Amino acid sequence: MIKTLRRNTEISQSKEDKTLCEFATEVKQGLELHEKTLPSKYFYDKKGDALFVEIMNLPEYYLTRSELNIFQHKTDELIEGLDLQTNTYFELIELGAGDGLKTKELLKCLDTQNYKFDYFPIDISSNALQLLKKDLNTELPNVSVKTKQGDYFKVLDALKESKHPKVILFLGSNIGNMTDTEASQFIYNLGNNLNTGDKLLLGVDLMKSIDIVLPAYHDSKGITAAFNLNLLDRINTELGGDFNLNQFKHQPEYNEETGVAKSYIESTAKQIVTIKAIGKTFNFSKGEKIHTEISRKYNDALISKIIENTDFDLQTKIMDSKAYFADYILSRS
Ligand code: AVI
Repeated sequence: MIKTLRRNTEISQSKEDKTLCEFATEVKQGLELHEKTLPSKYFYDKKGDALFVEIMNLPEYYLTRSELNIFQHKTDELIEGLDLQTNTYFELIELGAGDGLKTKELLKCLDTQNYKFDYFPIDISSNALQLLKKDLNTELPNVSVKTKQGDYFKVLDALKESKHPKVILFLGSNIGNMTDTEASQFIYNLGNNLNTGDKLLLGVDLMKSIDIVLPAYHDSKGITAAFNLNLLDRINTELGGDFNLNQFKHQPEYNEETGVAKSYIESTAKQIVTIKAIGKTFNFSKGEKIHTEISRKYNDALISKIIENTDFDLQTKIMDSKAYFADYILSRS
């Protein structure tokens, strides 16, 4: 027994070391570039997760409410667009399920209309999955919830064995944090794990005017700023950095023509930062920016271009009442 425990500790220890090593390598690579950058995936530690929950409830952050509006008021359209039949069992798989707020609306409807399905929420956080399962078991006891913790593609590869019809949910404009090339590759890879007729429900934020988009990334309470700057805090605590957070500020931008929102961290002084785990110092000039995130906004032409070289066809587009957000239904050819 003791042996097993020690072995498990060793395994998790080395996994942690590997993660930290990857973090250090990516920070080094990003900060050595002429135009400095840091990957947005590192926003999401415990503090970052909590800040993101706060963001989703901000009056300026319309994305979550807009997609919830679709799931609350256009549920029948979603079900019809997904070609679901009450007499055919299917697997409903959600990538990055989080708290399942929007999906719950769809699950409620499927449950009351007696559809036969299992719900597979996939998430990297086992804690989030446990909470979601507990919540669903209480609120929708008839819905079968089969949580899957881990990397999306590893889990999908395992689910590939079953030949039942599949519906993949990728909501919240999470695809928007990828470049268009990465998004195409991601959708192409999803297609490799599906069969003809399977569906992908892709939730994306739509292109719109700067006075709506920019405040969503520059809220009055400064929560998004804290979310962005948390990256530097993580480098300080996990990699022995000495970023002075008072000398950096959150700086978002949005280009109405391209539909690309970008977040930066700007150095407000000429300064030198040392990161012990990397064994290096980095010079910052006053006004120099670190690019930390891309939040792409879409239109039909962009979505068509992104799926052009994938095995998906565009089937339906369902929008919220303000036409801020769209859930596109793509079918695997
Ligand atoms: C998760 N993702 C879709 C959010 C977005 O809108 O790009 C992350 C976020 N960044 C700042 N605010 C929210």
